[in-house]
Parts: sequence; C-alpha cells; structure tokens
Amino acid sequence: MKKDLISITDFSKEEYLRIMNLASDFEKNPNQDLLKGKVVASLFFEPSTRTRLSFETAISRLGGRIVGFADPGSSSATKGETLHDTIKMVSNYADLIVMRHPLEGAARYAAEVSSVPVINAGDGANQHPTQTLLDLYSILKTQGTLDNINIFMVGDLKYGRTVHSLLQALSQFENPVFNFIAPKILQMPAIYKMALKQKGIKYYEHEEFTDIIKEADIIYMTRVQKERFSDPIEYEKVKNIYILRNSMLENTKPNVKILHPLPRVNEIHTDVDANEKAYYFDQARNGIYAREAIIAHTMNLK
Ligand code: CP
Repeated sequence: MKKDLISITDFSKEEYLRIMNLASDFEKNPNQDLLKGKVVASLFFEPSTRTRLSFETAISRLGGRIVGFADPGSSSATKGETLHDTIKMVSNYADLIVMRHPLEGAARYAAEVSSVPVINAGDGANQHPTQTLLDLYSILKTQGTLDNINIFMVGDLKYGRTVHSLLQALSQFENPVFNFIAPKILQMPAIYKMALKQKGIKYYEHEEFTDIIKEADIIYMTRVQKERFSDPIEYEKVKNIYILRNSMLENTKPNVKILHPLPRVNEIHTDVDANEKAYYFDQARNGIYAREAIIAHTMNLK
C-alpha cells in the first residue's frame, strides 16, 4: 500500500522519531543517490518559497528529477482541467507527488485519486505536515527533547496551518503546555482545543503579548494570513497586532528559541535577528534534511 502524508496525524509518534533520526543522518550526509531514476512532481497551486525550494533541493540532493509547476497559471487548470484529471495524469508520469493547494482537503482528495504517494505541502488553512516535521526537528535539536515543551504560539492561530499540525504532533509527546496568544478573531479553532481537553493537555489563551513569554521554551511566531481573509477591513485591524522585539526577550529563559515558519511580514522585528534566541533561518535550513527524510520514509528508500 502506498504511504501518503496528508495530515500530521497520518504518521505515528514512532514515525516522527524515525524521521528525526533520518533527518539527522541527512544533515551529516545530504547527498545520497536514493532517488536515482525517480521522478518527483512538484505541483504548487499556491505561492511558496521555502517549501517548494527545499523540497526541490531535497529531491536534487537525493539524485531525483523534478517536473511540475510553481504557478498554476502555466498549467491546464487555467483551461478548466479538474484537480482529479491533473492528478490522474501526473501520477502516470511521476513516482511521487508533492502538492500545495489553497483548498482544505485538496491534498486528501489528490491522494485518493493518485496511484503514487502524495505529500501535502499545505492545503489552505488546514495542515502543513512537512513544516511540522521540520519544526519538531528544530525543537529536538535546540531543546534536546520533544517532551515537557512549553510552547507559545503567537499570531494567526485560526488560519495558520502550521500551528494546527504542530499542536497535533506535540500532543503525542510527554507533558506539553500550550499558550495561545491571538486576538479574538484569530483564536485557535475549537476543534484543536477540544482535542487537547480530551487528552488532559494544559493550554492557556491570552490576547496580550506581554512578559508571559518568559516561561516559554519555544516562541512560535506566525504571520497573519492575509490571503485567507474574506474581508480586507478585518485584516487591516489585526495585521500588525503582535510584533516581537529584541527588548522583549531580555527576561526569557536561556534555552528559548524563536521559531517562525516564514515568510515574516512585520511580526518579528529585524532587531531580533542577531539575538542567539532567533532560530527561524536555521529552522528553514532544517527543512532540507527533514524533507529528505520524509521522502525517504514515504517511498521506503531507507
Ligand atoms: N513555511 C512555508 O510554508 O513557507 P513558504 O510558503 O515560502 O513555502
């Protein structure tokens, strides 16, 4: 049976840990010819810099070839071809499909249609499981553990798919504590909070971005997702609501790291970049190794 990665919950905790180990191996030795003779389709129906380029780098470092598009405007979707037919066709051409799509559920649908494995590179406001695996790898590298992590998620927790996947993954580990900092209109959706409640996992909600962050092991900043708002006036009201500045990090824990899936707009001031607690650019580099690991695991190459 083919292995897809559509939601982070498709993989078990053991699989997360296996991917962490593989990522660590790939970090030491990124160039391995595991995909020699294989073709990977990279289908991006929505803009991307990191996810697409780190996937394509990972595929190249594994010796594979890439087909696909970064702009759906250059595909036959503009002529009215359905996602069903596009995926049916591409799964005749490639050995693996990596797909980003603006519609929630599009990746699951693609996996049902495709005869080859599908990796979800982000579907609307729903899931971003490969980002989560690189986030876990970044947390493990910087904290030495995935247990007992006190994480502050800040910003757009409603539309931010990265925080949805990360919450589900960290819930598999021992004793996580979640602190959600968001304005009322961008709070973490009830379905995720209900799942935490059912598991007896502690979470706290705040609207103020204050010195409460001094308790954090991880501060996970997110961009307000302009493209998901139906009303631009609502976006204008919250677009700069939280800005992390270097001065705010003074009394934070020595081990704390600032993560951000990127791109950032204004939510992390550039004066944070030189602080040793800033980890977002290293986090993005970890994406190469994590994605090599995800490909190797999904395609049973290791
Ligand atoms: N983190 C992330 O998904 O970035 P891109 O949108 O640039 O791929």
